[in-house]
Amino acid sequence: MIVLFSTTNKHKIREANETGKIYGIGFEQINCIYPEIRDEKFENIASEGVKYVYEKIKKPVIVEDSGIIIDALNSFPGTFSAYIEKKLGNKGILNLMRDVEERNRTARYISAVAFFDGKILKTFVGTVEGKISTGERGSGGFGYDPIFIPNGYKETFGENPEPKKEISHRRKSVETFCKFYVKYNEDIK
Ligand code: IMP
Repeated sequence: MIVLFSTTNKHKIREANETGKIYGIGFEQINCIYPEIRDEKFENIASEGVKYVYEKIKKPVIVEDSGIIIDALNSFPGTFSAYIEKKLGNKGILNLMRDVEERNRTARYISAVAFFDGKILKTFVGTVEGKISTGERGSGGFGYDPIFIPNGYKETFGENPEPKKEISHRRKSVETFCKFYVKYNEDIK
């Protein structure tokens, strides 16, 4: 089964396919650029995006909106994560957090996958809890991975991206989508 995934981020496609293959689903990248609405909820941004893409291509499709929420920064950068990554980068985030103690460095990644086929609109959300390291560590993964330590681990996702396959926000959102899609595919036959 092939599912179209509209994104310009090749990491999202790679990670989605690591989960999809377990369910016999391959995600095929399309680059249909959609306007991102301004909203604090990843689900709302993904839902509006997927409706826009569907109207352009008239085929069932998914988009994913994701980001990182840092408690000590009042949930910043949240749905502005991509923009802030470009403007401040990991060094800028670490600088904002330079006086924050270990126990207050809690953070989470959130991923919202939205599917639309012209009638059915569904969103699937996944979260992974962790904390922000005090320095950049590792070069694996992408984005904030060198400063994100998932709960239960000592290394950042940058030092060891392997656990992302099992515990990441994207693993969880894509997995619930895959479970839905396997059944959806049966039902429309
Ligand atoms: P989007 O493309 O608007 O969904 O923005 C996603 C942004 O959130 C990325 O550009 C990263 O800055 C951040 N992000 C989301 N997921 C991850 C991840 O798995 N690792 C590192 N950064 C991530």
